[in-house]
Amino acid sequence: MLSFIKQPYLQWPTHDSMTVMWETSSDASSLVTVYETHRVHATGTGRFLPVDSSVRAIEGPGAASCVHCVTISGLEPETSYLYQVSSKSKNGESCESDVYPMKTAVVEETPFCFAVTSETGGTCNDTYNREVFHQIRLHRPDFLMVVGDSVCKGSQYSEWNRYFFTPAQDLLTTTPFYLVPGNHEENSDWFYKFVHYPEPKNYYSYRYGNALFVGLDSTQIVEYVDGKPRLVEGAFEPGAPQFDMLTERLKETDAVWKIVFFHYPPYVSADYQVDEMRILCPILEQYGVQVVFNSHTIAYERSHPIRRDSLDLESGITYVVAGGAGAMQQWFHHKRAWHTAHAIARPHFVQVVIAGTRLELQAIDFEGNLFDKVLLEQ
Ligand SMILES: [Fe+2]
Repeated sequence: MLSFIKQPYLQWPTHDSMTVMWETSSDASSLVTVYETHRVHATGTGRFLPVDSSVRAIEGPGAASCVHCVTISGLEPETSYLYQVSSKSKNGESCESDVYPMKTAVVEETPFCFAVTSETGGTCNDTYNREVFHQIRLHRPDFLMVVGDSVCKGSQYSEWNRYFFTPAQDLLTTTPFYLVPGNHEENSDWFYKFVHYPEPKNYYSYRYGNALFVGLDSTQIVEYVDGKPRLVEGAFEPGAPQFDMLTERLKETDAVWKIVFFHYPPYVSADYQVDEMRILCPILEQYGVQVVFNSHTIAYERSHPIRRDSLDLESGITYVVAGGAGAMQQWFHHKRAWHTAHAIARPHFVQVVIAGTRLELQAIDFEGNLFDKVLLEQ
Protein backbone atom coordinates (compact mmCIF):
# COMPACT_ATOMS: atom_id res chain seq x y z
CA MET A 1 0.00 0.00 0.00
CA LEU A 2 1.47 3.35 -1.02
CA SER A 3 1.56 5.76 1.93
CA PHE A 4 3.11 9.03 3.07
CA ILE A 5 6.39 8.80 4.99
CA LYS A 6 6.54 12.59 5.13
CA GLN A 7 3.38 14.62 4.73
CA PRO A 8 3.78 17.57 2.32
CA TYR A 9 6.04 20.40 3.46
CA LEU A 10 6.81 23.80 1.95
CA GLN A 11 10.14 25.19 0.79
CA TRP A 12 11.57 28.42 -0.60
CA PRO A 13 8.60 30.79 -0.90
CA THR A 14 9.05 33.66 -3.37
CA HIS A 15 6.69 36.34 -4.69
CA ASP A 16 5.51 34.03 -7.44
CA SER A 17 6.44 30.48 -6.53
CA MET A 18 6.45 27.82 -3.84
CA THR A 19 8.08 24.41 -3.69
CA VAL A 20 6.22 21.45 -2.20
CA MET A 21 8.03 18.29 -1.04
CA TRP A 22 6.83 15.01 0.41
CA GLU A 23 8.02 11.42 0.75
CA THR A 24 6.18 8.22 -0.12
CA SER A 25 6.79 4.62 0.96
CA SER A 26 7.90 3.58 -2.54
CA ASP A 27 8.68 5.16 -5.90
CA ALA A 28 5.67 7.00 -7.27
CA SER A 29 4.66 9.95 -9.45
CA SER A 30 4.33 13.52 -8.10
CA LEU A 31 1.28 15.73 -8.54
CA VAL A 32 0.37 18.98 -6.79
CA THR A 33 -3.11 20.42 -7.21
CA VAL A 34 -3.40 24.14 -6.48
CA TYR A 35 -6.74 25.75 -5.73
CA GLU A 36 -6.82 29.45 -6.53
CA THR A 37 -9.55 30.74 -4.29
CA HIS A 38 -10.33 33.53 -1.90
CA ARG A 39 -13.09 31.55 -0.30
CA VAL A 40 -12.28 28.67 1.98
CA HIS A 41 -14.61 26.56 4.05
CA ALA A 42 -12.84 25.61 7.27
CA THR A 43 -14.40 22.41 8.56
CA GLY A 44 -13.39 23.09 12.15
CA THR A 45 -11.27 19.95 12.24
CA GLY A 46 -8.15 21.57 10.81
CA ARG A 47 -9.18 20.58 7.29
CA PHE A 48 -9.94 23.05 4.52
CA LEU A 49 -12.24 22.85 1.56
CA PRO A 50 -11.88 25.25 -1.38
CA VAL A 51 -15.03 27.05 -2.50
CA ASP A 52 -15.54 28.46 -6.03
CA SER A 53 -11.95 27.71 -6.92
CA SER A 54 -10.10 27.43 -10.16
CA VAL A 55 -7.86 24.40 -10.14
CA ARG A 56 -4.36 23.95 -11.49
CA ALA A 57 -2.53 20.64 -11.42
CA ILE A 58 1.29 20.58 -11.62
CA GLU A 59 3.13 17.35 -12.25
CA GLY A 60 6.54 16.69 -10.77
CA PRO A 61 9.44 16.37 -13.15
CA GLY A 62 11.36 13.22 -14.03
CA ALA A 63 11.12 9.62 -12.95
CA ALA A 64 9.04 8.25 -10.11
CA SER A 65 10.70 8.80 -6.75
CA CYS A 66 10.15 8.41 -3.00
CA VAL A 67 11.21 12.01 -2.27
CA HIS A 68 9.00 14.37 -4.25
CA CYS A 69 9.78 17.99 -5.08
CA VAL A 70 7.48 20.15 -7.20
CA THR A 71 7.86 23.89 -7.73
CA ILE A 72 4.67 25.80 -8.44
CA SER A 73 5.30 28.98 -10.42
CA GLY A 74 3.13 31.78 -11.78
CA LEU A 75 1.63 32.61 -8.38
CA GLU A 76 0.71 36.08 -7.11
CA PRO A 77 2.69 37.82 -4.30
CA GLU A 78 1.47 37.51 -0.68
CA THR A 79 -1.48 35.47 -1.83
CA SER A 80 -2.99 32.48 -0.10
CA TYR A 81 -3.71 29.30 -2.03
CA LEU A 82 -4.79 25.80 -1.12
CA TYR A 83 -2.80 22.80 -2.27
CA GLN A 84 -3.00 19.04 -2.20
CA VAL A 85 -0.42 16.46 -3.23
CA SER A 86 -0.92 12.99 -4.62
CA SER A 87 1.27 10.16 -5.85
CA LYS A 88 0.68 7.00 -7.86
CA SER A 89 2.97 3.99 -8.12
CA LYS A 90 3.54 1.86 -11.23
CA ASN A 91 1.25 -0.87 -9.93
CA GLY A 92 -1.59 1.59 -9.50
CA GLU A 93 -1.45 2.23 -5.77
CA SER A 94 -2.04 5.84 -4.85
CA CYS A 95 -2.15 8.22 -1.91
CA GLU A 96 -3.56 11.71 -1.57
CA SER A 97 -2.94 14.32 1.12
CA ASP A 98 -5.43 16.60 2.81
CA VAL A 99 -5.84 20.13 1.43
CA TYR A 100 -3.57 22.71 3.09
CA PRO A 101 -3.17 26.49 2.86
CA MET A 102 0.05 28.16 1.70
CA LYS A 103 1.03 31.79 1.13
CA THR A 104 3.59 33.33 -1.22
CA ALA A 105 6.20 35.81 0.06
CA VAL A 106 5.07 39.31 0.96
CA VAL A 107 6.16 42.40 -0.96
CA GLU A 108 8.57 45.04 0.29
CA GLU A 109 6.25 47.19 2.39
CA THR A 110 4.13 44.46 3.97
CA PRO A 111 4.75 43.46 7.61
CA PHE A 112 5.54 39.82 8.24
CA CYS A 113 6.50 37.43 10.97
CA PHE A 114 8.88 34.51 11.32
CA ALA A 115 9.76 32.00 14.03
CA VAL A 116 13.20 30.73 15.03
CA THR A 117 14.08 27.51 16.81
CA SER A 118 16.71 24.76 16.81
CA GLU A 119 18.15 21.87 18.80
CA THR A 120 15.19 19.57 18.23
CA GLY A 121 17.88 16.86 17.96
CA GLY A 122 20.75 18.49 19.83
CA THR A 123 19.95 16.78 23.12
CA CYS A 124 19.24 13.44 21.37
CA ASN A 125 16.00 13.57 23.31
CA ASP A 126 12.72 14.59 21.70
CA THR A 127 10.80 15.44 24.89
CA TYR A 128 9.94 19.04 23.97
CA ASN A 129 9.83 18.92 20.18
CA ARG A 130 6.08 18.50 19.75
CA GLU A 131 5.32 21.25 22.27
CA VAL A 132 7.75 23.72 20.69
CA PHE A 133 6.45 23.07 17.16
CA HIS A 134 2.85 23.23 18.42
CA GLN A 135 3.47 26.64 19.99
CA ILE A 136 5.08 27.91 16.80
CA ARG A 137 2.02 26.77 14.86
CA LEU A 138 -0.33 28.56 17.25
CA HIS A 139 1.58 31.81 16.64
CA ARG A 140 1.23 31.42 12.84
CA PRO A 141 4.54 32.72 11.45
CA ASP A 142 5.01 33.24 7.72
CA PHE A 143 8.07 31.00 7.82
CA LEU A 144 10.27 29.08 10.21
CA MET A 145 14.01 29.41 10.58
CA VAL A 146 15.84 26.40 12.12
CA VAL A 147 19.38 27.18 13.25
CA GLY A 148 20.73 23.64 13.10
CA ASP A 149 20.83 20.43 15.14
CA SER A 150 17.34 19.59 13.96
CA VAL A 151 18.17 15.89 14.37
CA CYS A 152 20.47 13.88 16.63
CA LYS A 153 22.40 11.90 13.99
CA GLY A 154 21.76 13.33 10.55
CA SER A 155 23.39 10.43 8.71
CA GLN A 156 20.68 8.08 10.02
CA TYR A 157 17.55 8.21 7.89
CA SER A 158 15.04 7.50 10.68
CA GLU A 159 16.28 10.47 12.74
CA TRP A 160 14.80 12.99 10.31
CA ASN A 161 11.26 11.83 10.95
CA ARG A 162 11.71 11.18 14.66
CA TYR A 163 13.14 14.57 15.59
CA PHE A 164 11.91 16.91 12.89
CA PHE A 165 9.41 15.98 10.20
CA THR A 166 6.95 14.02 12.35
CA PRO A 167 6.73 16.32 15.40
CA ALA A 168 6.67 19.38 13.10
CA GLN A 169 4.28 17.88 10.56
CA ASP A 170 1.24 20.06 11.26
CA LEU A 171 3.40 23.19 11.12
CA LEU A 172 5.38 22.29 8.01
CA THR A 173 2.34 21.57 5.83
CA THR A 174 1.50 25.29 5.96
CA THR A 175 4.77 27.03 6.88
CA PRO A 176 7.97 26.97 4.79
CA PHE A 177 11.18 26.34 6.74
CA TYR A 178 14.81 27.36 6.27
CA LEU A 179 17.36 25.08 7.93
CA VAL A 180 21.10 25.70 8.22
CA PRO A 181 23.22 22.72 9.20
CA GLY A 182 24.64 22.25 12.68
CA ASN A 183 27.08 19.58 13.74
CA HIS A 184 24.25 17.10 14.37
CA GLU A 185 23.11 17.19 10.73
CA GLU A 186 26.52 15.57 10.10
CA ASN A 187 26.70 17.11 6.60
CA SER A 188 24.70 14.07 5.56
CA ASP A 189 23.13 13.25 2.21
CA TRP A 190 19.72 13.26 3.91
CA PHE A 191 20.00 16.98 4.62
CA TYR A 192 20.60 17.67 0.94
CA LYS A 193 17.79 15.29 -0.13
CA PHE A 194 15.16 16.70 2.20
CA VAL A 195 15.65 20.44 1.54
CA HIS A 196 15.17 22.43 -1.62
CA TYR A 197 17.40 25.49 -1.47
CA PRO A 198 19.58 26.92 -4.25
CA GLU A 199 22.79 24.94 -4.70
CA PRO A 200 24.91 24.16 -2.76
CA LYS A 201 21.98 24.20 -0.26
CA ASN A 202 24.04 24.40 2.96
CA TYR A 203 24.33 28.21 2.72
CA TYR A 204 22.10 30.70 0.93
CA SER A 205 20.40 34.05 1.10
CA TYR A 206 16.84 35.15 0.50
CA ARG A 207 14.74 38.26 0.58
CA TYR A 208 11.43 38.38 2.45
CA GLY A 209 9.55 41.69 2.67
CA ASN A 210 12.02 44.43 3.52
CA ALA A 211 14.57 42.05 5.05
CA LEU A 212 17.60 40.22 3.71
CA PHE A 213 18.36 36.85 5.33
CA VAL A 214 21.68 35.07 4.98
CA GLY A 215 22.05 31.51 6.28
CA LEU A 216 25.56 30.09 6.62
CA ASP A 217 27.01 26.63 7.23
CA SER A 218 29.29 27.30 10.19
CA THR A 219 30.35 23.63 10.32
CA GLN A 220 32.33 24.33 7.14
CA ILE A 221 34.04 27.34 8.78
CA VAL A 222 34.92 25.78 12.14
CA GLU A 223 35.71 22.11 12.72
CA TYR A 224 36.01 20.22 15.98
CA VAL A 225 39.30 18.37 16.48
CA ASP A 226 39.67 16.31 19.67
CA GLY A 227 36.60 18.11 21.01
CA LYS A 228 38.01 21.59 20.41
CA PRO A 229 36.87 24.03 17.72
CA ARG A 230 39.36 25.40 15.22
CA LEU A 231 39.05 27.46 12.05
CA VAL A 232 39.08 25.55 8.80
CA GLU A 233 41.98 27.03 6.88
CA GLY A 234 40.79 29.34 4.10
CA ALA A 235 37.10 28.76 4.80
CA PHE A 236 36.32 32.41 5.58
CA GLU A 237 38.50 34.80 3.64
CA PRO A 238 38.13 36.62 0.32
CA GLY A 239 37.64 34.03 -2.40
CA ALA A 240 36.04 31.50 -0.06
CA PRO A 241 32.43 30.80 -1.21
CA GLN A 242 30.68 31.67 2.05
CA PHE A 243 32.80 34.80 2.62
CA ASP A 244 32.08 36.04 -0.90
CA MET A 245 28.36 35.25 -0.76
CA LEU A 246 27.90 36.97 2.61
CA THR A 247 29.85 40.11 1.71
CA GLU A 248 28.32 40.46 -1.76
CA ARG A 249 24.75 40.05 -0.53
CA LEU A 250 25.25 42.52 2.33
CA LYS A 251 27.06 45.02 0.12
CA GLU A 252 24.48 45.05 -2.68
CA THR A 253 21.26 44.92 -0.65
CA ASP A 254 18.85 47.79 -0.08
CA ALA A 255 17.00 45.85 2.62
CA VAL A 256 15.97 47.71 5.78
CA TRP A 257 16.78 44.68 7.96
CA LYS A 258 19.81 42.47 7.55
CA ILE A 259 19.60 39.21 9.48
CA VAL A 260 22.23 36.46 9.47
CA PHE A 261 21.86 32.99 10.96
CA PHE A 262 24.33 30.15 11.53
CA HIS A 263 24.76 27.40 14.10
CA TYR A 264 27.98 28.05 16.05
CA PRO A 265 27.57 31.08 18.37
CA PRO A 266 30.35 33.68 18.48
CA TYR A 267 28.81 34.99 21.70
CA VAL A 268 27.09 33.02 24.44
CA SER A 269 27.79 33.07 28.17
CA ALA A 270 27.71 29.29 28.36
CA ASP A 271 29.37 26.13 27.16
CA TYR A 272 29.81 25.82 23.42
CA GLN A 273 30.60 29.42 22.65
CA VAL A 274 32.74 29.22 19.52
CA ASP A 275 35.16 32.15 19.72
CA GLU A 276 36.54 31.28 16.29
CA MET A 277 33.23 32.37 14.72
CA ARG A 278 34.07 35.98 15.62
CA ILE A 279 36.02 35.99 12.38
CA LEU A 280 32.64 36.89 10.84
CA CYS A 281 31.92 39.83 13.13
CA PRO A 282 33.91 42.56 11.33
CA ILE A 283 31.96 41.81 8.12
CA LEU A 284 28.61 41.73 9.95
CA GLU A 285 29.47 45.02 11.67
CA GLN A 286 30.80 46.71 8.53
CA TYR A 287 27.64 46.08 6.52
CA GLY A 288 25.11 46.93 9.19
CA VAL A 289 23.68 43.55 10.17
CA GLN A 290 21.24 44.17 13.04
CA VAL A 291 20.40 40.69 14.30
CA VAL A 292 22.27 37.35 14.30
CA PHE A 293 20.65 34.05 15.29
CA ASN A 294 22.74 31.16 16.55
CA SER A 295 22.29 27.87 18.37
CA HIS A 296 24.60 24.98 19.48
CA THR A 297 24.18 25.99 23.13
CA ILE A 298 20.84 24.60 24.30
CA ALA A 299 19.51 27.70 26.02
CA TYR A 300 18.18 31.15 25.23
CA GLU A 301 20.39 34.20 25.35
CA ARG A 302 19.88 37.65 23.84
CA SER A 303 22.78 40.04 23.82
CA HIS A 304 22.72 43.78 24.15
CA PRO A 305 23.63 45.48 20.87
CA ILE A 306 27.39 44.84 20.73
CA ARG A 307 30.22 45.81 18.45
CA ARG A 308 33.88 44.90 18.85
CA ASP A 309 33.07 43.02 22.06
CA SER A 310 31.53 46.09 23.68
CA LEU A 311 28.12 47.61 24.21
CA ASP A 312 27.17 49.84 21.27
CA LEU A 313 23.62 51.13 21.39
CA GLU A 314 23.97 53.01 18.12
CA SER A 315 25.24 50.36 15.75
CA GLY A 316 25.74 47.16 17.72
CA ILE A 317 24.45 43.75 16.65
CA THR A 318 21.90 41.84 18.75
CA TYR A 319 23.05 38.21 18.95
CA VAL A 320 20.32 35.73 19.85
CA VAL A 321 21.08 32.14 20.77
CA ALA A 322 17.79 30.36 20.13
CA GLY A 323 18.80 26.88 21.26
CA GLY A 324 15.14 26.00 21.36
CA ALA A 325 13.96 22.51 22.14
CA GLY A 326 15.90 21.85 25.33
CA ALA A 327 17.17 23.47 28.52
CA MET A 328 20.76 22.99 29.68
CA GLN A 329 20.87 25.33 32.68
CA GLN A 330 24.09 23.69 33.89
CA TRP A 331 25.91 24.92 30.79
CA PHE A 332 25.65 28.59 31.79
CA HIS A 333 28.74 30.54 32.85
CA HIS A 334 28.87 33.93 34.52
CA LYS A 335 27.11 36.63 32.57
CA ARG A 336 29.29 39.28 30.98
CA ALA A 337 27.73 42.63 31.80
CA TRP A 338 28.46 44.15 28.38
CA HIS A 339 27.03 41.13 26.60
CA THR A 340 23.99 39.51 28.19
CA ALA A 341 20.61 41.22 28.09
CA HIS A 342 18.55 38.13 28.93
CA ALA A 343 19.50 34.48 29.39
CA ILE A 344 17.49 31.48 30.52
CA ALA A 345 17.54 27.77 29.82
CA ARG A 346 13.99 26.90 28.86
CA PRO A 347 12.57 25.10 25.79
CA HIS A 348 11.35 27.85 23.53
CA PHE A 349 11.14 29.49 20.17
CA VAL A 350 11.62 33.09 19.07
CA GLN A 351 8.94 35.03 17.22
CA VAL A 352 10.00 38.07 15.17
CA VAL A 353 7.56 40.59 13.72
CA ILE A 354 8.93 43.06 11.19
CA ALA A 355 6.79 46.09 10.30
CA GLY A 356 8.74 48.66 8.30
CA THR A 357 11.45 50.11 10.51
CA ARG A 358 10.30 48.27 13.64
CA LEU A 359 11.41 44.76 14.59
CA GLU A 360 9.78 43.15 17.60
CA LEU A 361 11.39 40.02 19.01
CA GLN A 362 9.59 37.80 21.50
CA ALA A 363 10.85 34.63 23.18
CA ILE A 364 8.06 32.17 24.02
CA ASP A 365 8.46 28.94 25.96
CA PHE A 366 7.10 25.49 25.15
CA GLU A 367 3.99 26.19 27.24
CA GLY A 368 3.22 29.45 25.42
CA ASN A 369 4.58 31.85 28.07
CA LEU A 370 6.30 35.02 26.86
CA PHE A 371 9.60 35.39 28.76
CA ASP A 372 11.57 37.98 26.81
CA LYS A 373 10.72 40.84 24.49
CA VAL A 374 12.67 43.60 22.76
CA LEU A 375 11.85 46.23 20.16
CA LEU A 376 14.51 47.36 17.68
CA GLU A 377 14.03 50.39 15.48
CA GLN A 378 15.89 51.67 12.44
FE1 LIG B 1 25.44 21.93 17.81
